Parts: sequence; structure tokens; C-alpha cells
Amino acid sequence: MRQPFAITIDGPAASGKTSTAFQVAEALGFHHVDSGALYRAATAAALRAQPGGGWDENAVLAAAEIVVMQARKASFTPLLGGKEAEDEIRGDTVTAQVSVVAKMPRVRDWVNAQVRSLADLHDVVVDGRDIGTIVLPNAGVKVFLLADGHERARRRLLQRLGRQGTTAEVEEEMGRLAKRDALDAVQTVPAPDATIMDTTDMSQAEQVRQIIDLARSAGAAS
Ligand code: DC
Repeated sequence: MRQPFAITIDGPAASGKTSTAFQVAEALGFHHVDSGALYRAATAAALRAQPGGGWDENAVLAAAEIVVMQARKASFTPLLGGKEAEDEIRGDTVTAQVSVVAKMPRVRDWVNAQVRSLADLHDVVVDGRDIGTIVLPNAGVKVFLLADGHERARRRLLQRLGRQGTTAEVEEEMGRLAKRDALDAVQTVPAPDATIMDTTDMSQAEQVRQIIDLARSAGAAS
């Protein structure tokens, strides 16, 4: 049997990884796996079990037993207790706590094991921070997305508010992103063999096309 093909897309918050990864997966007939969604699902599960926070690794891992990945369209998405929980895992409460949970080594092992088991069976596009370095170091294509802080803040607000942010909103969002970058900096490192793509002046369609070209040149099917 042919070995499944893996594409990794890493980069900082709001660099466009998740939507780019989904579109690449759709175009190639692959499955998209958002590793950040697994950290978010573990955090949401811990919050359900103990809303006040203050969990240790054991508490997070015990709570995360209700998380199961389910194939849906071109993605694997986490279910919590058998139900979709997209709004919950993307909400402010989870966003405020997830960086702490993502620092826990055994939670990282848990996420990595889930991602690897999907990549063992399916052609995947996985987005995250350390996928090309730690999780799937033998991936066929590795990409690291960058964009300048102002552009990332602008995109994030457009996504969240459905309109362009005001100057003040963009500046506030840049501050939030800088804090997130600092919290996640340790694990957000490009693999030595990753293609670095600065998307500040690129459209989404262009990013997707370039990654598909890389994948085809590397022998990905479709
Ligand atoms: O990309 P995101 O905002 O959904 O990620 C949520 C959190 O998980 C964020 O704190 C970074 C962390 N994360 C990580 O440490 N490693 C990954 N591979 C993916 C996400």
C-alpha cells in the first residue's frame, strides 16, 4: 500500500494556516487536521470538568477523554462528548487558557499521538506550530507561514467582525497577537527544510496555489 502523504503548515497565530490548510486539503482530496483545535478541545474539556481552572496535566488528560476526532467534509474535527463544539473551542474563555494547556508535555504527547495516528492512515494537511519539526518530521511538504503583525491583526478582525477593523481595533489586536506570539514562541519554529512563505502581500488563493504546486512537485497524488 502507498504511504500516505503529509503536508505540514506551521506558523504563528493568525498567519492564515487553518483556512489555507483546509483549502489545500479540499483541492488535493486530503484530510485537514487542525492541531490547534485539539489543544483547544482539551482545554474546553478541562473547563467543563473544572470551570475554575487550575488543572494539572492529569486533570486535563482525564477530561480530554471525551475528545474524539471525527471526519467531516475535508477535515477531522474534534467532538466533545460526541457533539460538535466549534463555538466553544474558538470562544474567548478557551482562547485565554489554551496556551497554558499547550505547555503541558503530556498534553503535547496526547495531541501528537492523535495527529500521527491520522497521518498514518490518511493523506493529510496538518496545521499547527511544531508539526514539521516534532510531530511529522518526515512529511513530504513542509511550509511555514509568516505575515507581518499589522496584516495578521487586519485579517483576524475581518474574520471575527466580518468588516475591516478601525485603526484602534487593529492596534489592540496587534497587542493581543504579540502576547500570544510570546506565549507560543518556544514551539513555533520552522523546520530547517520548510519552505518559508511570507504571505503579507499574498492572497489566500495564491498561498493555496503555491502549496499545491509544492505538493505536486513532491509527488502528492491528485
Ligand atoms: O492555532 P490556534 O490558535 O488554534 O492554537 C491554539 C493553541 O495551541 C495556541 O496556544 C498554540 C497551541 N498550539 C501548539 O502549541 N502547537 C500546535 N501544533 C498547535 C497549537
